[in-house]
Amino acid sequence: MITPRSLEAGQRFLLAAKKWWTADLYEHLRKQYLAQAGAKADRHDVADVADILENTTEYRYFAWLERHLQRMKYSGAYGLARYYDQARDAVLPPLEEVEQKSDLLELKPDLPLPRYYTGVDIHQHPGGVWSDDVAGLVYEHGARTTTPMLGSSHADLHARFTDHVGKIMTPTKILDLGCGFGKSTQPFYTGFPKAQVEGIDLSGPCLRLAAHTAEAAGAKNIRFRQRDAVNTGYSPGSFDLVTSTMLLHETPPAPLDTLIEEAARVLEAGGRMIHLDFHHLPDAFRRFMFYGHARRNNEPYMQPVAEVDLQKLLKRHGFEDVTIEPFSEAEDLGVHRKDVWRLPWTVISARKSSARSYNAHSSSARGSRAPASRAGGRSRPVATRAARKAQGGKAPGAKRQTSRS
Ligand SMILES: C[S@@+](CC[C@H](N)C(=O)[O-])C[C@H]1O[C@@H](n2cnc3c(N)ncnc32)[C@H](O)[C@@H]1O
Repeated sequence: MITPRSLEAGQRFLLAAKKWWTADLYEHLRKQYLAQAGAKADRHDVADVADILENTTEYRYFAWLERHLQRMKYSGAYGLARYYDQARDAVLPPLEEVEQKSDLLELKPDLPLPRYYTGVDIHQHPGGVWSDDVAGLVYEHGARTTTPMLGSSHADLHARFTDHVGKIMTPTKILDLGCGFGKSTQPFYTGFPKAQVEGIDLSGPCLRLAAHTAEAAGAKNIRFRQRDAVNTGYSPGSFDLVTSTMLLHETPPAPLDTLIEEAARVLEAGGRMIHLDFHHLPDAFRRFMFYGHARRNNEPYMQPVAEVDLQKLLKRHGFEDVTIEPFSEAEDLGVHRKDVWRLPWTVISARKSSARSYNAHSSSARGSRAPASRAGGRSRPVATRAARKAQGGKAPGAKRQTSRS
């Protein structure tokens, strides 16, 4: 039996260890790499960094801690999945109630879920964020410590992003793709009270929690719906802002292409698409660490999406005024801080051309495409030059990623 007190103590211990990992151990590795790379660091690619670091004891310790602190956060003796499993009879009724009585929520339990989504225990969350009724609660609790340096300011990230959007435009019809349990949607429906906001996600358990939170806050200008971001079902030109936070890197490149096409379809001419995701990786060391993070955190599409030419992709779908810029997730964590591990937060912003009206042909073409499940991507682990040579130049294939591996 895990009591709330022991859960809290266990999670605090893991967070303290993660902070040491984030700051001290990461900085030690960075210095170790720079000392060996010397002046060549500027010309290095990911394989060069791997050659220097991958077999060192310190990097292996770093990688082991990253993998296992996250595993313990969910599945350990004081893990979130275990806690909410035993607490389900107490925590689920309020969420079930919101489903019965609230008009803030529209669930579609028979919505087909793509295989690229169901085949991975994302973030090492057992069963992913969709398969268990308590998954939204587990995810919400886990998300409080995703960015360990933020501490109690972890909620600021989403508010900062919404403030950033507010400097670009004052939206009136907003679609938040992959809204999860509503953390990214909340600052939109509270920050733009005159706007009508739609939040969509594949996960019923997350949407129930999102609607419960919105109802408790007395929000009236938000609807949460169980829909696929790749095929939303909204009419053409329904929104002046399509946004997402941390969705793009969870979408393999082929469905990502369709997602951008779909965003263009549901935007009105001149409307904006503004995403917060991970893309700005200015040097080989950070790229190497980020690709390693992707493997260790069960995020198989992170690396392929980081390698997509987003400028090109967005322009191909009729977007203009495309900007891809690093984003500071907190006041004291500027984008140029190199001494701590941080995710490469990036704002991807673009305007749908006013000149180009929606082309109905592209919608019918989309309907006849192969299902996204078959279009799923595979992760490509970083290979040292020696390993690539041994494999005849091919990158090793990805295994199915579960929280138990
Ligand atoms: C990393 S979470 C981010 C959630 C939320 N935006 C936030 O910032 O807290 C990604 C979310 O995208 C959802 N998702 C993934 N693929 C999706 C798709 N094709 N359509 C809708 N939602 C999707 C997942 O269920 C998950 O809730």
